[in-house]
Amino acid sequence: MNDNKKEIIYILRKSEGNPVSGQEIGEKLGITRAMVWKYVRALRKEGYDIRSSPKTGYILDSCPDKIDPEMLQGILKTSLIGNDIRYYSELESTNNTAREIAMSVPEGAVVIAETQKKGRGRMGTEWQSAPGGIWISLILHPSIPLENLSKITLVAGIAVTNALRGIGVDARIKWPNDVLVNGKKICGILTEVSAEIGKVDYVVLGIGINVNVKLSGLKDEVRRNSTSIANETGKPIDRTSFLASLLYELEQQYIRFKTRKFAEIVDEWINLSDTIGRNVKVMTPTMLIEGKAVGITEKGALVVLDKNNKKHEIIAGNCRYSD
Ligand code: BTN
Repeated sequence: MNDNKKEIIYILRKSEGNPVSGQEIGEKLGITRAMVWKYVRALRKEGYDIRSSPKTGYILDSCPDKIDPEMLQGILKTSLIGNDIRYYSELESTNNTAREIAMSVPEGAVVIAETQKKGRGRMGTEWQSAPGGIWISLILHPSIPLENLSKITLVAGIAVTNALRGIGVDARIKWPNDVLVNGKKICGILTEVSAEIGKVDYVVLGIGINVNVKLSGLKDEVRRNSTSIANETGKPIDRTSFLASLLYELEQQYIRFKTRKFAEIVDEWINLSDTIGRNVKVMTPTMLIEGKAVGITEKGALVVLDKNNKKHEIIAGNCRYSD
């Protein structure tokens, strides 16, 4: 896209729905108002919905549904997360690409794909990644022992939930790492790690969010339990702006994780949790535990009290509700 058109979109996005006059845009770009108008008409043809009023100016109502990596760089308010953005129209899996480049990019790099051909979910499941979603992987180098890895997943769950709540979507976290709205899954998180002698080299934090994804395109068994932001709010949203606020939340939570007591994060996780207080069946790698979810430990494990009041601390597993 030509630089003047990019600049016009950038200015209108930054004004967040407030009108900007042709005069003001023209002055910023060093072009006439008539030229601004010419570019606005060209942008409309490309799918940008720009309203104009002779009295107040231009307002950007909506953009074509594509993540715009340059725009993202421009509006990002982070210093670490997103310092290196790798954007692709299609990948097999952003987690795979992130793992390939993890040792050659700075901490905070983000891999983004519009679609994934082989999106991966937890426990070897397929993750359907149609157009309209946010499919990203973050590369982090936390200096933590391997046993603390599940804490990163909890931190990411809080960040996604806060970003969703920031746009009015009533999200809650289902242990360990699903984000639900009205009991339906809107986001999944896949944390992968490379570690040596119990110490983490890098973490790839894969996050998939159904933003404007058409639910009708999902396979039946997935569709029944899924929702999307567009489905909850009644209209598609601008994925570039939402991604900027998601990366901001991720940075805030990651900084807190590195600098504050984990107990603070546990408290917030419990506040946002859909799981605590519920009857659950958790399939761990070794056994099935049934009981009531009552808390999260300092290590990030789910605490379940079984019918004999025996306490189980579960660090990894697949959780189902039984109430
Ligand atoms: C889950 O099973 O709930 C986890 C789903 C994680 C999906 C995301 S999409 C971006 C990243 N790339 C992948 O292949 N998977 C994760």
